[in-house]
Amino acid sequence: MDNLISLVNKLQRACTALGDHGEESALPTLWDSLPAIAVVGGQSSGKSSVLESIVGKDFLPRGSGIVTRRPLVLQLHKIDEGREYAEFLHLSRKRFTDFAAVRKEISDETDRETGRSKQVSSVPIHLSIYSPNVVNLTLIDLPGLTKVAVEGQPESIVQDIENMVRSYIEKPNCIILAISPANQDLATSDAIKISREVDPKGERTFGVLTKIDLMDKGTDAVDILEGKAYRLQFPWIGVVNRSQADINKSVDMIAARRREREYFANSPEYKHLAQRMGSEHLGKMLSKHLETVIKSRIPGIQSLINKTIAELEAELSRLGKPIAADAGGKLYMIMEICRIFDQIYKEHIDGIRPGGDKI
Ligand code: GDP
Ligand code: NA
Ligand code: MG
Repeated sequence: MDNLISLVNKLQRACTALGDHGEESALPTLWDSLPAIAVVGGQSSGKSSVLESIVGKDFLPRGSGIVTRRPLVLQLHKIDEGREYAEFLHLSRKRFTDFAAVRKEISDETDRETGRSKQVSSVPIHLSIYSPNVVNLTLIDLPGLTKVAVEGQPESIVQDIENMVRSYIEKPNCIILAISPANQDLATSDAIKISREVDPKGERTFGVLTKIDLMDKGTDAVDILEGKAYRLQFPWIGVVNRSQADINKSVDMIAARRREREYFANSPEYKHLAQRMGSEHLGKMLSKHLETVIKSRIPGIQSLINKTIAELEAELSRLGKPIAADAGGKLYMIMEICRIFDQIYKEHIDGIRPGGDKI
């Protein structure tokens, strides 16, 4: 199954590379059918922090105000061994092993598109992380929903961000992490509002409650976490991310996770829920859910891929020889991936072992 998810990741990457070069094919449709996980919520609700703790690495710009100003499409690739590294699509020949440099590049690349401003852009940044310590996942970090334009932002920004977010989460293949901060009333949650709009039955929405440590004394989130305040198909997950003071003090991820575990295990209100709280649990649950989704989608993806191979072949013959080395190379790469996918599909679904025996 791990193979399958990593293949889906490769397909997403290949689709993106091709899309960037504007060739016409059925690939956007293929892209749309592959699963990904997006975080949505109000500004500073903790979206980037949640993504970081799922990945288990510090690499995203975080902070108060509007920090995330372009979508970040993040692919995690599990490798068997070796040192972890990151690569950007826009800098594909450079391997980053220093994750502080990854954070700086995200921030610089954001500025390159928008200027050093508070403006947003819907042009995504594509980042891949290769590591023995991740599960294969595609995650999308999005700018936060806001209520008003601030100094330096056009009036249209509130609507622009909402439209941008909606364009990602309205796709049926998108698993939504709806991030609500526990120190604000759930009835005002932007995350719940927009996710309910695109996924009214809550079939692909996971409710994540952040900032539980920042609630007013004498209040707690037990009703929400037990699903009594607002019911979702999947159980709510509470997390405690690093505070701004922790970020300033460079509290590392391992210490933060340990503290989060202790927080839930030791607090009388949440003790009974501790097993299904926290960032690690969230990561595991998402990975499990993604597998289920991919398995159920395999037949659909398969028929799309068949169509795509035919269309790629038509495209190649239409281009004739000589094919521009770059475009041709990419098309062949995608065809190759499609063929491998086809093979894996046959092995998994038709139940035929490489030797040809029926399972
Ligand atoms: P985003 O704007 O939704 O991406 O939010 P960020 O992840 O950038 O977080 C915004 C601010 O809230 C940062 O200063 C974080 O340190 C802080 N923060 C996020 N989650 C928590 C949490 O669970 N507890 C505490 N104390 N602070 C948090
Ligand atoms: Na923020
Ligand atoms: Mg952010």
